[in-house]
Amino acid sequence: MENKPFIELVKHRTSCRAYEPKPVPREHLELMLEAARLAPSACNKQPWRFAVVQDEDKKMQLTRKALRKGIEMKWAGNAGAVIALGMLHKGIVHKVGTKISGVDYPQVDLGIAGEHLVLQAEELGLGTCWIGWINQKAVREITGWPKAVVPIGLITVGWPAAKERKTRPRYSLEEITTWI
Ligand SMILES: Cc1cc2nc3c(=O)[nH]c(=O)nc-3n(C[C@H](O)[C@H](O)[C@H](O)COP(=O)(O)O)c2cc1C
Repeated sequence: MENKPFIELVKHRTSCRAYEPKPVPREHLELMLEAARLAPSACNKQPWRFAVVQDEDKKMQLTRKALRKGIEMKWAGNAGAVIALGMLHKGIVHKVGTKISGVDYPQVDLGIAGEHLVLQAEELGLGTCWIGWINQKAVREITGWPKAVVPIGLITVGWPAAKERKTRPRYSLEEITTWI
């Protein structure tokens, strides 16, 4: 595989909402999960849990019951796989630490792990889209996760359908950065 500068990978990634009806190889999914597994986390608590949904019935259940109304997301059912991200609160460090500092560490950790997964997918030529507009109860029912695992989102994964990529605007560096 050609070694592209990291920034090129980042620039090329856009949320993919149209997929070819083609399965995603298991080894691709495993590599993405490995990238997520190696993510940093506060106090190395690794609060992430993943459920990889490839079974057509379960995928349909997810897209019918676990996606909230108001945003059109029928395309999600065409993705070869949907990965549910779950967050496990890990006792005193998360509870007390978050209370004292006001920083929700496990949420931050899940965001980092999820994006590791997304960028690994991008390198493999796969398309992904984060979905945060979910019904947590439905995700828990479909994944079989216990109450302790809080569903925080889904990531669709699949082969992008040939169509123009849509790049969404970003604020300029000046608008978002203070140099002190
Ligand atoms: C935490 C999170 C939740 C998101 N939830 C949804 C969602 O529910 N549905 C959707 O279509 N896109 C969702 N997105 C994708 C964003 O709309 C998208 O990343 C943003 O508009 C920037 O576009 P780009 O990813 O193509 O660069 C989500 C992204 C993130 C990071």
